[in-house]
Amino acid sequence: MEFEIVKTKQEHLVEILKIEEELFPEPWTAEFFAYEIEQGDSLVAKELLTGEIIGYVCGWAVLDEYSITNVGVGKRYQKQGIAKKMITHLMQKKLTEKVVVFYLEVRETNIPAINLYRNIGFQTIAKRLKYYRNPVEDALVMKYQS
Ligand SMILES: CC(C)(COP(=O)(O)OP(=O)(O)OC[C@H]1O[C@@H](n2cnc3c(N)ncnc32)[C@H](O)[C@@H]1OP(=O)(O)O)[C@@H](O)C(=O)NCCC(=O)NCCS
Repeated sequence: MEFEIVKTKQEHLVEILKIEEELFPEPWTAEFFAYEIEQGDSLVAKELLTGEIIGYVCGWAVLDEYSITNVGVGKRYQKQGIAKKMITHLMQKKLTEKVVVFYLEVRETNIPAINLYRNIGFQTIAKRLKYYRNPVEDALVMKYQS
């Protein structure tokens, strides 16, 4: 399957929400995504033939730091390298814009995501106790230093 990675636009919101609701027990709301798209620095993966949105990565740059706040790939498109491509694309783009460090938080039992971030070069630097709800769980704080 071929896809392109493009900057997120408000017109992608409905499709992003569909994926988000498929993936998370407490999905982000439309308002939350709308704000991220407007103010943040996010990308989507778009299937080339159909134009379907198949994944997204959201985040924010503040000075030389970038925080990844959300990543999702539609269930039937997972395990095909899409998240890795989106995140490395985003990181390369940010590195040219003087970002030198990337942070994220992840549920400590979310093995697919932890493996993904390790695979890209992130390392665990801290744990935030009971950071998540539904279910209550600790977060690992992961960091990538260029
Ligand atoms: C985590 C997630 C974004 C990964 O997306 P993906 O497109 O399937 O990931 P990729 O195909 O790019 O995988 C890249 C690497 O991540 C790791 N990985 C991805 N899925 C994995 C799984 N199910 N089990 C173990 N490792 C996994 C592997 O190291 C993989 O490399 P490999 O294929 O060479 O083994 C996806 O599973 C998802 O949307 N999960 C639900 C939402 C979520 O948890 N988001 C993260 C919140 S912090």
